Amino acid sequence: MDFNNMVCMTLFFMISIIILLTFMSTRFNKRKRSSRKNLSRSAKLPSGSLGWPFFGETLEFISCAYSPHPESFMNKRRLLYGKVFKSHIFGSPTIVSTDAEVSRVVLQSDAKAFVPSYPKSLTELMGKSSILLINGGLHRRVHGLIGAFFKSPLLKSQITTDMHKYVQHLMSGWQDNQLIFIQDETKHIVFQILVRVLIGLEPGEEMQFLKHNFQEFIAGLMSLPVKLPGCRLYKSLQAKKRMVMLVEKIIKEKKKKRRMMMMMMNSNTSDHQNTPKDVIDVLLNDNSNQLNDDLISDNMIDLMIPGEDSVPILVTLAIKYLSDCPPALKQLEDENMQLKQQKSSLSWTDYLSLTFTQDVITETLRLGNIISGIIRMAMKDMEIKGHFIPKGWCVFTYFRSVHLDESIHENPHKFNPWRWKDKDMNSCGFTAFGGGQRLCPGLDLARLEASIFLHHLVTNFTWVAEEDQVVNFPTVRMKRRMPIRVKRKVET
Ligand code: HEM
Repeated sequence: MDFNNMVCMTLFFMISIIILLTFMSTRFNKRKRSSRKNLSRSAKLPSGSLGWPFFGETLEFISCAYSPHPESFMNKRRLLYGKVFKSHIFGSPTIVSTDAEVSRVVLQSDAKAFVPSYPKSLTELMGKSSILLINGGLHRRVHGLIGAFFKSPLLKSQITTDMHKYVQHLMSGWQDNQLIFIQDETKHIVFQILVRVLIGLEPGEEMQFLKHNFQEFIAGLMSLPVKLPGCRLYKSLQAKKRMVMLVEKIIKEKKKKRRMMMMMMNSNTSDHQNTPKDVIDVLLNDNSNQLNDDLISDNMIDLMIPGEDSVPILVTLAIKYLSDCPPALKQLEDENMQLKQQKSSLSWTDYLSLTFTQDVITETLRLGNIISGIIRMAMKDMEIKGHFIPKGWCVFTYFRSVHLDESIHENPHKFNPWRWKDKDMNSCGFTAFGGGQRLCPGLDLARLEASIFLHHLVTNFTWVAEEDQVVNFPTVRMKRRMPIRVKRKVET
């Protein structure tokens, strides 16, 4: 090929690319204009950068997420583009919201506007009927049933009794000067409580079987979406199958028991018989015909995902922050010692009425950001506070930036439980438990379990915490699992 031919070919190639790009951009703009007809003219796609082709800004996001200040990714862009900006993370064009009001609207919206969006490996593991993924009427039904059960005084008093039993058993084995890894100990207790609440299982062999398989299952939550034998995701799916089989067996036994009870007793006693003791009972009692056994057994495993890690981390972080703030630890100890001296047996209402303890938990949630934010996908073109959100784009409502916003909280990186005294949690963008139709149904349980653990720890032990560091990605945890050297208090 001579030089002239090469120049012609290159020119031809460049002109073709320009024509193609112009054609694509006209079509994109046309589509954008036509689909925006119901939105106000001033609504604008937020400023920002979509980063590199294919990778977008994911690598920068992840490298910040691993650092002690994951919000630095957001802070840099907030300065350049404002509190709401566009980016491209985890393979999708995304509007990032660090604005409390915009995030609130997203959380309050229904499935016609936004639906949850999770990484592919997670949706593969959860299955289509998971409460975390379903939408509309079925979601409202399942969420409503579970939420009401989790709020019921009967369940809370059962959890209080169980927690006492498990915590006392655990702590009775602690020796003076022993190094205790709080993150491991709380995980052990909380898993037992969770499994009892969900499927009614007591500690024993089957509980161990579930625990082992659940560890195998969650190891695949953030894996490559490849389902071939030997791959991480495949192993996790196999572990889920084994757990589902156990839950199916429990459902069958429960159904058999119900039939026998019905046959043995007269109809007057059927009310008592149906009082739910766990979530399986709650869902089996439902007579809407929407919930079959497959949906129930799948969901029992999926419900362990948000419940299993979050409460142990809440307690672990609280102990970390308290260890670093002696005046707060002293006040918490005084409040709990006073309660212990007043009453020999404590109910769930006693724990939740400890105002300073609750403020410590709220402050831990604000500063710790166990769930740093949630991702939703727009089902149609949307406009929020003048920002245009195109259909198919994701919105990342980043709670962490709001919780650490100095215009909302003075000295936001400081652990200061006193800041919550007489403060209305709803007025300052506090969304540690989400909001709207998907507001965490386990929020009361989380607070109750954390309060009980803290009560037993501070009223029975003093401790010296060893050096440790909070890791924020992919999930919040302590680098060394929060080791503390404990010493039993002398009874007076
Ligand atoms: C410190 C503890 C906890 C924190 C910070 C937390 C946080 C959250 C957040 C932010 C959401 C909203 C997710 C979204 O909008 O997509 C959520 C949802 C959920 N949480 Fe929790 N959670 C905690 C404990 C628990 C516990 C103990 C359970 C009990 C099993 C639980 C069960 C759920 C469920 C089932 C959902 C999904 C609700 C739905 O999509 O309808 N959580 N949680």
